Amino acid sequence: MKRIGILTGGGDAPGLNGVIKGAYLRIKKDLPDVEIIGLLEGWRGLIEKKYIILKDDDVKEIHKEGGTILGSSRTNPYKNEDTVKKTHQSFKELELDALIAIGGEDTLGAANKLAKDGFPVVGAPKTIDNDLNVTDYTFGFNTAVNIAMEAIDRLHTTAKSHRRVMVVEIMGRHAGWITLWSGIAGGAHMVLLPEEVTKITEVAEFVKKRKEKGELYTMIAVSEGAILDTGGASNFVFEEAKTDEFGHVRLGGIAKQLAKYIEETTGIESRYVVLGHIQRGGSPTAFDRILSLRFGINVGELVLKKEWGKMVALRGTEIVAVPLEEAVQELKVVPQKLIKELKSIL
Ligand code: F6P
Repeated sequence: MKRIGILTGGGDAPGLNGVIKGAYLRIKKDLPDVEIIGLLEGWRGLIEKKYIILKDDDVKEIHKEGGTILGSSRTNPYKNEDTVKKTHQSFKELELDALIAIGGEDTLGAANKLAKDGFPVVGAPKTIDNDLNVTDYTFGFNTAVNIAMEAIDRLHTTAKSHRRVMVVEIMGRHAGWITLWSGIAGGAHMVLLPEEVTKITEVAEFVKKRKEKGELYTMIAVSEGAILDTGGASNFVFEEAKTDEFGHVRLGGIAKQLAKYIEETTGIESRYVVLGHIQRGGSPTAFDRILSLRFGINVGELVLKKEWGKMVALRGTEIVAVPLEEAVQELKVVPQKLIKELKSIL
């Protein structure tokens, strides 16, 4: 093997750099003369042949840094015939003997198609949302949960001081993992998830009852994709009409509208906080550093063994190899049993 490419696609997640480092060092150990190139800004880097040649110094300390040293984008190489043609052409022109694609459902879906088209591709799963079916956990999730939990911890004191309702909007798209984890860990009084339908009237009732019982404030953790039954009486909008190249809508706005509704119906002063991209920024936790390095080492081994069309995944405490195809089959939402278990203490 002479030349290997690595790319990071989709929303960034703390730990991406750990995978790059793990893969680089593992491959270089066996193949010291191989050139490892970092394709810039996800699939765009492959299509436009924009890359850097990675050196030992580039990866030295990077597992401690958030984001990705390669940049990322939501570019879809399989967007249309033209982009597919360009992707195939660039792959050949760059003379890549292997490509490591690090990303979520979309990036791995494209990697799967490329592997099916006969290209030597392997993958590593990433997303703060933890919604990939193949793996028990993705790196970035643990960091996001800790950031959201700390934010909720802090919001308690100000909400209590002002006797307010505080509604905290948490990322995760159509899976409630980050919200359930951080909400329960951070001591939220109510947790609203995309996996359940909650009547908005029930939320207001809950807040009122807490006040009647003498509780000074209420903390509500709400997923950006939570499902609220508004009884058709309201014009709540939680998503933008515009979609990205993979057809995803941009979620957001649920906390603002929920806080307004609560204040209007209960008369209790309410505020909202959108945690947003803070959940994805900054350095990874120790758990995510180790998981990402392990994914990197093991995806490097897949390359050395030429196990194309596969990706690494965490099962229990083991890192295993599974077909890329499996990554994109089904969204891993929070199981009802787990929701019931954790919510039983609310
Ligand atoms: O998939 C990760 C994620 O952070 C989601 O939780 C969120 O809905 C989305 O990405 C935000 O995407 P963007 O960074 O493109 O606004």
